[in-house]
Amino acid sequence: PTNRTFTMIKPDAAQDGNSGSIIKMIEEAGFRIVALKRTQLTVERAGEFYAVHSERPFYNDLCQYMSSGPIVPMILEKENAVADFRILIGATNPANADEGTIRKLFAKSIEANAIHGSDSDENAEIEGGFFFAHTEQF
Ligand code: CMP
Repeated sequence: PTNRTFTMIKPDAAQDGNSGSIIKMIEEAGFRIVALKRTQLTVERAGEFYAVHSERPFYNDLCQYMSSGPIVPMILEKENAVADFRILIGATNPANADEGTIRKLFAKSIEANAIHGSDSDENAEIEGGFFFAHTEQF
């Protein structure tokens, strides 16, 4: 069935001028863009987005990094969107990412790993709602 996922191009990839190439890969893989913008998180708002990781040793660095520059959040639609998108982006650590994945091509490190992808339908809905009102989703 057609469903939605949430993604954001992270500051490393957005800063390097790779947003266009990444969006092109996403569209060529069959995802329809439902919502898209360029914005920047404060460290507090990054902390809220990643609250699920608040006990992890990398949490503070992650919040600093994710607020260090512009990001490009998007809601995407496709059959089997969550699972297929995670295949397209590749493993969290780019050292383990398959050839041809977005992270293999563009990620710098396990933290600056170019792009986010929701891990469940439920989180896709929550994360999309963090950035976009329903009146911004078409
Ligand atoms: P993502 O899986 O999109 O969401 C959690 C993020 O935390 C992850 O991408 C990385 O950016 C970061 N992250 C995950 N694991 C580590 C780690 N071991 N060290 C540093 N950053 C990490």
